[in-house]
Amino acid sequence: MAVQDLFRMEQTILITGGAGFIGSNFVLQWMNCERTPVVNLDKLTYAGNPRNLKPLSGNASYIFQQGDICDRELVRRLLERHRPRAIVHFAAESHVDRSIRGPDDFISTNVTGTFSLLEETRAYLSALPAENRSRFRFLHVSTDEVYGSLGLEDPAFCETTPYAPNSPYSASKAAADHLVRAYHHTYGLPTLTTNCSNNYGPFQFPEKLIPLMILNACQAKPLPVYGDGQNVRDWLFVEDHCEAVRTVLAKGKVGETYNIGGYSEKKNLEIVETVCSALDELRPNDPVVPHNNLITFVKDRPGHDRRYAIDARKIHRDLGWKPRETFETGIRKTIQWYLANDEWLQSVTTGAYHQWVATHYS
Ligand code: NAD
Ligand code: DAU
Repeated sequence: MAVQDLFRMEQTILITGGAGFIGSNFVLQWMNCERTPVVNLDKLTYAGNPRNLKPLSGNASYIFQQGDICDRELVRRLLERHRPRAIVHFAAESHVDRSIRGPDDFISTNVTGTFSLLEETRAYLSALPAENRSRFRFLHVSTDEVYGSLGLEDPAFCETTPYAPNSPYSASKAAADHLVRAYHHTYGLPTLTTNCSNNYGPFQFPEKLIPLMILNACQAKPLPVYGDGQNVRDWLFVEDHCEAVRTVLAKGKVGETYNIGGYSEKKNLEIVETVCSALDELRPNDPVVPHNNLITFVKDRPGHDRRYAIDARKIHRDLGWKPRETFETGIRKTIQWYLANDEWLQSVTTGAYHQWVATHYS
């Protein structure tokens, strides 16, 4: 084997779900900052979009492989062929409302898919020379939702908060987190887990709160707020999340988990009002202005968690990461990105999207 091929293998990372919202931001940031080879394994479900990674076409350091993380044969072949030094595992079914309507895919991808990656990684590592094995990392990207729901006065989730997932989505992510923990504890797999709060930013599929509100407001459609709109989430700009994941990969202690958050708790109604007033300024000629006239309270999400909040002191103290964006700067960038990327929005809001909206909000 040529020396440059060996070098390439020692540098390569395998990303799963790199065509989704956070994954594609991560791949783009990685290629910009780290510039080492990436193999991206993505099934291209409705949430995956290879257009997001168009700037990388022709880049010899970027390889895209369409496929399912549950396909053990495929995962094995990719590990054997590319011999990555790390796996960064983003692939998941990620939408809580879809998990309530149909949990099957969540169990398959989030639980069985993670299990399949862990098993193939275990086999791959057992055949690696000791030096490469000790350098290897399996970074599992998870969510703050595994911790359940907080009351308004409760302290924020920290890494030792007991798990109490409430939706099929969060239960499937919690199951995956536990498998990752067990593979470290039992087999010594060099794992890292991150639990992050709500992301927002470019490339987020417009079924999630912020892009849905931007899209509907521009089209003078109702802005559906669940229940009383007083549920609280912590919001983090996606590029900050990607930077945090890179930091954990580079400096995280094997077997540890790290909470990642934006120090930015907001009520849903506040988020929608913020989007509306930014649009009043940026699009004063829309058919309905002020845009908040479009706010419509709709039936609540079943089992809707009241509040999430993240205590992100550990990653700051131990690894030196904290977010760069405030919510005010991040939301501005996000809205401007959606307004400037109408073509992208059109391409993802196909018939299947309209069918989801029609079924879910009818
Ligand atoms: P997303 O739904 O936008 O993207 C998921 C990606 O995974 C898509 O590209 C999809 O095609 C791919 N995928 C789905 N099933 C697959 C399978 N079986 N095999 C291979 N690829 C598959 O999700 P996201 O919002 O980018 O979230 C990424 C990860 O981050 C998830 O693990 C999620 O739980 C976690 N997370 C998300 C947030 C958030 O606010 N979005 C916050 C914290 C953690
Ligand atoms: O907390 C991290 C999680 O954040 C991630 O693990 C998930 O993958 C991600 O989807 C997100 O989950 P949420 O359920 O918090 O995100 P969503 O954008 O679906 O909803 C945010 C809040 O807004 C939630 O309280 C429900 C509410 N909402 C959502 C939609 C789509 C509405 O009021 N109306 C809506 O139409």
